[in-house]
Amino acid sequence: MKSYAFNILGLSIIISALTAAVVYFALSRMFVRPLTRITRNMLHFAEDPEDQSRIMAPSGRLDEIGTAERQLQGMQQQLSNLLQQKNRLAQLGLAVSKINHDLRNMLANAQLISDRLVDVPDPTVQRFAPKLIASLDRAIQFCNSSLQFGRASEAAPRRELMRLKPLIEEVAESQGLSQESPVKLFADMDETIRIDADRDHLFRIVSNLVRNAVQAIEQQDHPSGGEIHIKGRREGRKVIVDVIDTGSGVPAKAREHLFKAFQGSTKKGGTGLGLVIASELVQAHGGTLSLVEGGKGAHFRIELPDRSAN
Ligand SMILES: Nc1ncnc2c1ncn2[C@@H]1O[C@H](COP(=O)(O)OP(=O)(O)O)[C@@H](O)[C@H]1O
Ligand SMILES: [Mg+2]
Repeated sequence: MKSYAFNILGLSIIISALTAAVVYFALSRMFVRPLTRITRNMLHFAEDPEDQSRIMAPSGRLDEIGTAERQLQGMQQQLSNLLQQKNRLAQLGLAVSKINHDLRNMLANAQLISDRLVDVPDPTVQRFAPKLIASLDRAIQFCNSSLQFGRASEAAPRRELMRLKPLIEEVAESQGLSQESPVKLFADMDETIRIDADRDHLFRIVSNLVRNAVQAIEQQDHPSGGEIHIKGRREGRKVIVDVIDTGSGVPAKAREHLFKAFQGSTKKGGTGLGLVIASELVQAHGGTLSLVEGGKGAHFRIELPDRSAN
């Protein structure tokens, strides 16, 4: 009886061991190994996603693991293509910046020479010289703003809590707007309003908006009497600055691509970069720049939150 029991025990142990071994090998072959292969491939691909030879080669299985392999292959292929495309665009951008830079210098030379034309008494020269100088000016401006946009990245904003009104008045002055100029700028806000922003960035943001407003007013048939109102107010932990002008409003053609680089401009010699740069600078502060609908002229709104208190 005892030996029979031992026999049964031994047999059971052998059968269990055999079953365990079969299950182990089956699981390892069917799941563990393919998963290890996928994981290893992911790590290998992540080291250099641009190397297309590292993309997963699916085993052709029809179950979930096969699907995972095919999906991974698709994703890796897409990522790799995107990276290559980005690389090429970056190189192209660099080349354009270099051309732009040299072109700007040549134009500046041409401008220096053409400045002398103003002194030539010939009436034909007198008629064309200002136009030539203005064209060169525009071309240089174009090169400058494209170069500025092409800079790899803006420095992070160095924020300080500062008074808003003096900065607006500084912008007005820098754009040649005064009580005597045909276009007038009004800073409708409390003296005490403070905004938490990078001074240089905010100056550029507001300058871009004001310059656009002045240009829009000057393009009208009766530009005299044009007004730009800048209203500032604080709402809790954010400051809202509205820039409203009496121009003819943003044309439909410009609206379609308003905040897209090189696409939004409707002006001769315009780059379509002013609003893009302004918007990017606002976003770097965690804020938004938007066009407010309604009204005759254009109405842009900057919403700038304070730094979070941590
Ligand atoms: N205040 C405004 N009034 C009317 N149109 C505007 C105003 N601001 C911007 N726009 C329109 O948006 C376009 C894009 O502006 P912007 O990005 O500054 O580029 P750019 O000034 O070089 O054309 C302008 O060409 C103009 O048509
Ligand atoms: Mg502009």
